[in-house]
Amino acid sequence: MLSNEKLHYFDATEQRPVRADLRYAVTMVRAPRIAVDCGCGAGSDIAFLRSEGFEVHGFDIEQESIKRCQQRYQSDKQVHLTQASFSSFSYPPCSLMVADASLFFCPPHEFDFVWQRITQALVPGGIFCGSFLGPDDTMAGPSYNKDAWWPDVLTLTDAQVKTRFQGFEILSFTEHKLSGVTPDGASHDWHIFSVVAQKRANLSLS
Ligand SMILES: C[S@@+](CC[C@H](N)C(=O)[O-])C[C@H]1O[C@@H](n2cnc3c(N)ncnc32)[C@H](O)[C@@H]1O
Repeated sequence: MLSNEKLHYFDATEQRPVRADLRYAVTMVRAPRIAVDCGCGAGSDIAFLRSEGFEVHGFDIEQESIKRCQQRYQSDKQVHLTQASFSSFSYPPCSLMVADASLFFCPPHEFDFVWQRITQALVPGGIFCGSFLGPDDTMAGPSYNKDAWWPDVLTLTDAQVKTRFQGFEILSFTEHKLSGVTPDGASHDWHIFSVVAQKRANLSLS
């Protein structure tokens, strides 16, 4: 169900600034310029990727997200949108996999399967650009409102994130830890790992 909190979030992020990691990631991508945006939300990263010449496959579990993006990109034949979850989406081969603040909500028991799909879809030399939730984030604790937001929360430690990138060269790894107030006035401790990594040519997953 679409809560007011999610609706407000999509409104607030529709035109949000592009994160520095994604600006950097696109400079590292070789042809073909094909991107997948996992959990594309209101579609702000899609706009940037299109401006950089990428064909973009965006998916999200929320009907509201896909409806908004369909309206926003209705005249753009290089944007392909699907309502799907991380585990049900058919990942096309791509040179850039974007997962910004979205894998936070992958059901933990699905993550191994999802990560295998994500890494298999990236072509050799392809770039992953995304973020993971650390255990000290408020969302990992008891005050997280599962009725208002996405109910499953996946947290990983620094070491657990790095383990996932054994078949990659990590180009950028940043741990963000700060405390502050969310736009709706709630205090929040953020704990996020942002990663840009390049898939090695000889990565094989068994
Ligand atoms: C915090 S928002 C980030 C949106 C966008 N990536 C951005 O940075 O603006 C998280 C997104 O993940 C999506 N999401 C949550 N659970 C999901 C799932 N299991 N499969 C696919 N998308 C999911 C949500 O609908 C939401 O759009």
